[in-house]
Amino acid sequence: MIALSLVVNGRAVRAQVEPRTSLADFLREQQGLTGTNLGCEQGVCGACTLSVDEAPTRSCLVRAAACQGQSVRTIESYDQDEIMAQLRQAFSAEHALQCGYCTPGMLATARDIVIRLPQADDARIRLELAGNLCRCTGYVGIVRAIRRVLDARRADPA
Ligand code: FES
Ligand code: FES
Repeated sequence: MIALSLVVNGRAVRAQVEPRTSLADFLREQQGLTGTNLGCEQGVCGACTLSVDEAPTRSCLVRAAACQGQSVRTIESYDQDEIMAQLRQAFSAEHALQCGYCTPGMLATARDIVIRLPQADDARIRLELAGNLCRCTGYVGIVRAIRRVLDARRADPA
């Protein structure tokens, strides 16, 4: 076992983990944070995407032990987040989810797009979403939802 110390959703966490435990399994099974979904478990589908030190990260590929000292944010941590609130509203308005399985990962990537690429056009949004697969909706609604948030923030930068 490895002694792990990191920050999860703003809270300092100390735990013992097996060297091969993935970050996703650590969060779901040891921290009770089941909002992070697992699909392929091999880095392809993006369902497990969350934020590590503010970067979208596939948590099925990262070992928990490799996150020593880092700050992890899961979908459970965004209740007070302005951008996530805009994205949630836009995803609903644009029918950007159906079963919702991909949605936590989609939202993690979408939030990163809004922060990092405020001038992104639809082609760039699609490029950035290439690592997140949705088997229900297609991508039109998802791209429109992110576009809606980018447009709103450009119109009202405050
Ligand atoms: Fe991690 Fe598919 S479950 S990329
Ligand atoms: Fe079902 Fe995306 S909404 S997989």
